[in-house]
Amino acid sequence: MVDNSAVKVEIEHLREQLNYHNRKYYVENSPEISDYDFDCLMRRLMDLEAEHPEFYDPLSPSVRVGSDRTSEFTSVAHRYPMLSLSNTYSIEELSAFIERIEQQQGVTEFACELKFDGTAISLTYEKGRLVRAVTRGDGTTGDDVTANVKTIRSIPLVLTGDDIPDFFEIRGEIFMPYASFDRLNSEREAAAEQLFANPRNAAAGTLKQQQSAVVAKRGLDCTLYQMAGDNLPFTNHIENLEAARRWGFKVSEYMTLCRGAKEVIEYINHWDEARKSLPYPTDGVVIKVNNFALRNSLGFTAKSPRWAVAYKFKAESALTRLISVDFQVGRTGAITPVANLEPVLLAGTTVKRASLHNAEQIAALDIRIGDMVYVEKGGEIIPKITGVELSERKSDSTPFEYITLCPECGAELVRFEGEAKHYCPNQSGCRPQILGRIIHFIRRKAMNIDGLGAETVELLFENGLIADIADLYSLRANDLALLPRLGEKSADNIISSIEASKSVPFARVLFGLGIRFVGETTAKYMASHFKSLDAIMAADRDTLQEADEVGDKIAQAIIEYFADPVNLAIIERLRAAGLQFESEQSVLSSNILEGKNIVVSGKFTLHSREELKALIERHGGKNQSGVSGNTDFIVAGENMGPAKLQKAEKLGVTILTEQQFIELLGNSDTTPPPTVAEPEQPKVEQVIQTSLF
Ligand code: IVH
Repeated sequence: MVDNSAVKVEIEHLREQLNYHNRKYYVENSPEISDYDFDCLMRRLMDLEAEHPEFYDPLSPSVRVGSDRTSEFTSVAHRYPMLSLSNTYSIEELSAFIERIEQQQGVTEFACELKFDGTAISLTYEKGRLVRAVTRGDGTTGDDVTANVKTIRSIPLVLTGDDIPDFFEIRGEIFMPYASFDRLNSEREAAAEQLFANPRNAAAGTLKQQQSAVVAKRGLDCTLYQMAGDNLPFTNHIENLEAARRWGFKVSEYMTLCRGAKEVIEYINHWDEARKSLPYPTDGVVIKVNNFALRNSLGFTAKSPRWAVAYKFKAESALTRLISVDFQVGRTGAITPVANLEPVLLAGTTVKRASLHNAEQIAALDIRIGDMVYVEKGGEIIPKITGVELSERKSDSTPFEYITLCPECGAELVRFEGEAKHYCPNQSGCRPQILGRIIHFIRRKAMNIDGLGAETVELLFENGLIADIADLYSLRANDLALLPRLGEKSADNIISSIEASKSVPFARVLFGLGIRFVGETTAKYMASHFKSLDAIMAADRDTLQEADEVGDKIAQAIIEYFADPVNLAIIERLRAAGLQFESEQSVLSSNILEGKNIVVSGKFTLHSREELKALIERHGGKNQSGVSGNTDFIVAGENMGPAKLQKAEKLGVTILTEQQFIELLGNSDTTPPPTVAEPEQPKVEQVIQTSLF
């Protein structure tokens, strides 16, 4: 037998070194070696691990690079529930909270911390090793995102130090620093992908990524702020988190002990301003009773502890000058006015542009060029103008005049009834609309044509190689390779992903067509209801509304789309190219409903209407839209139409509830398999009082 013990020693030594340097760099911000030296150690470890799979360890520092395997998330019940905090925006309410506790308990210590703006995570450690990472979910059950969390370098995989409890959970916030957020959104912009509205959405979205290798690249970070476990050896919060810091966790360096409302308010006032120069997003301060015995006597409400409160900062706003207004034309022809501002710092980034929504809003706020305007960041991508500082208005300023012609093609703008926006009606002749439709079509959620980004689409358009989405399917690698900035290899990639898009399912093709108001979900419902593009094209206004989510407005937009001969010609060319214009036939699960005509009507609790209809088909039955003499039964939910009900009673048709219908299908597959939680969970109510600190 070969003696591998020297290799084992080297692997273990490398892992220790890498863990140590990882902590120095990501947790303590005081690296001791260069990135290059770190990478060399990592490479050596990864080579040895590849050669010696017998020394595999799921917590090796090499897992930080993530994997390309896709993973489904199983749901896991929280051993200790993940509660939320009661919020306040008012200093009076906060003072009342502090004084109430002080009246009961006398002088009290409060731990004040920043409220990180990301997504909550619960990490479980056993014998000093990370075993599980679970999202908050509904507070009782969350998703197991361990593989993704292992790639976040500030989260220790293996703890070091003394007195580490054998078993505990530690909770914190996974967040995306501004620098990572800006980088991610610029990459997404270049790839014509939808931007994340704010770092919080980006952090939450990233954590639910299917491939941990993607998570590894996105630069997430994590701060821990709360520990839970049985018999933890601490009497207060600060002591507890200081110990956690010694074991390798990143704990906020700005946590401070305060006594009395005055000190707490000073902390808040300081951070309301100072947070603007932090490199990550925060949205408030959390004030927690420090002493655990006192926490126990204060207890919990159903949703949150009585010993803590979150004071939330008001949305940040800045005052700056409005230089000019641009008008952008979207792929549907919608006109969006965008303000150009004198650059100003707001919530961690420099703002130069802001949204103005529409003509009515500009008029309502009486916004004029040259005005000093207030800008705020809400949940959206670009900030918005919320008001004008009239005291600074110049005497020669004039009211803003909204445009009447398309700034791109000169067509006269129109307004639809009930719509606040103006539209350019020149769909087939207006450049940003044409480009916008092609860019929408190639998006990942639509046809997923890799390698083609917004810039390449523009390049192809400028060079006369494409004028609409159907032209993509006549492109040849030779045409592409001649373009500036596109080499032979990229050209081949583009051609093969165009080819691959021919097998993209019908629902995504329908979404990709870019019919106004037909988003991803509506397209899914329509594809599952109508089964083919031909059925949709043949449907009238009422029939279209039989699909879930399709109301009058969407039905009208669909009819208009298919009434346009230019669109019809494109559709026929896409059909000839071989795109999927029909939903895939699903495999039969049973023939229990064979020969049965069934009507589904009303609102349901366990399944959506479309899911029930799909179930009927999977079990051999036929869906009917109205009750007739040959209807076998009705699956009726809440608010079933009275006309249908009357007719059913008259014809003596059996009416089943959703539950009865599911029982009829027996053990056939009606729901995804239940996920397995941890066995032998201690009863939550018992644990709350003693262990959730
Ligand atoms: S303590 C019992 N501390 O805010 C609740 N939460 O609405 C324990 N958060 O879900 C939470 N920073 O995601 C706590 N320093 C901090 C926090 C913090 C951010 C989040 C957390 C929680 C939400 C509460």
